[in-house]
Amino acid sequence: MSSGVIQCVVLGATGYAGSELLALLHKNPHFSVVKAFGSAEREAIRWRELAPQLAAHSSLMIEPWDMAQLDHVSVQAAFLALPHAASADIAPALLARGIQVFDLSGAFRFHNACDFAQAYGFEHPAPTLLAQAQYMLMPWYSAQAEHSVYAIPGCYPTASLLALKPLVDAGFIQGTPVITAISGVSGAGRGANPATSFCEVSMKAYGVLQHRHQPEISQQLGCDVVFTPVLGPYARGILAVCTVTLTEQGAVTNLQAHFQAQYAEHVLVQVVPAPPAVNHVAHTPFAHLHVAQKESTAVITVAIDNLVMGAAGQAMQAANQVFGLNAYAGLLP
Ligand SMILES: NC(=O)c1ccc[n+]([C@@H]2O[C@H](COP(=O)([O-])OP(=O)(O)OC[C@H]3O[C@@H](n4cnc5c(N)ncnc54)[C@H](OP(=O)(O)O)[C@@H]3O)[C@@H](O)[C@H]2O)c1
Repeated sequence: MSSGVIQCVVLGATGYAGSELLALLHKNPHFSVVKAFGSAEREAIRWRELAPQLAAHSSLMIEPWDMAQLDHVSVQAAFLALPHAASADIAPALLARGIQVFDLSGAFRFHNACDFAQAYGFEHPAPTLLAQAQYMLMPWYSAQAEHSVYAIPGCYPTASLLALKPLVDAGFIQGTPVITAISGVSGAGRGANPATSFCEVSMKAYGVLQHRHQPEISQQLGCDVVFTPVLGPYARGILAVCTVTLTEQGAVTNLQAHFQAQYAEHVLVQVVPAPPAVNHVAHTPFAHLHVAQKESTAVITVAIDNLVMGAAGQAMQAANQVFGLNAYAGLLP
């Protein structure tokens, strides 16, 4: 258990995930944001000008990123909501200053450098850190070993793993699970891009059989999966539809009861009686999970907010638990 308020910095605070995280940190009495940064190229801007819906009463300035600014403050934690390459470059210098790093990018989610390079298309600048990083899929987190870099899972992997891990771990699945997951366009970040502009988006699969979240999901499950992401015409949320073939034991098990038992202690994951919609969870830290089964087939549907449960919310819970605090501080009233 940590004593006192934890001083922290947020990098990538002008982005969608970083701004959401600032809002959660401001609601969390155990954390104090001493500095927030955009990229080095950006002029300083007041957070409330950028995100009035999140920051109406805040006077926090978001400053251009400059490592030297950390010489004048003492912080225990840094939250990185940055592009993958920027996180991989900046994290080692923060760790060298004794700062615990919570990284929302994909920079530390793979255990080895080959898998990382294959998925992300560049060599990791600090490959030795990969083996030291802890993957923070929160229902499976246990504070057994000390780490200093914490990898927050991707948004699609979070939704997919909540659906599949309880079944794979119990030996209830045979064959290859098939995941089709639809995401709102905030999943692509705030940067302007014609492919994700309002007038261009309709409904389109992308990264078919080559999306970098496929190996992340496989690594965590220990089995292959077919993963198809789809871009949908809405702002927030992911709906992951996961279809599996059950083993004999899986087929005779009440899977709803199995999921309820799995998540009984995890209030953010709610097993619901009807297939969920993204609007049920948008702007909330919750995941809604529904399972239907018929003979040897099961379809598990999970809805999350990509920026909260899929990014900032899971980072908030991770930091709470690493520092021995109430897991849901900042997340639940
Ligand atoms: N969006 C999601 O649903 C989601 C879900 C899970 C995980 N993630 C991951 O979270 C990270 C952030 O995603 P996002 O959607 O919030 O992206 P975003 O909206 O594009 O924001 C990126 C942030 O990083 C800053 N930045 C860019 N390059 C930088 C550099 N070299 N040094 C310092 N700061 C830099 C940007 O600053 P400027 O504004 O000044 O350019 C901005 O604040 C990504 O790794 C993403 O994969 C996102």
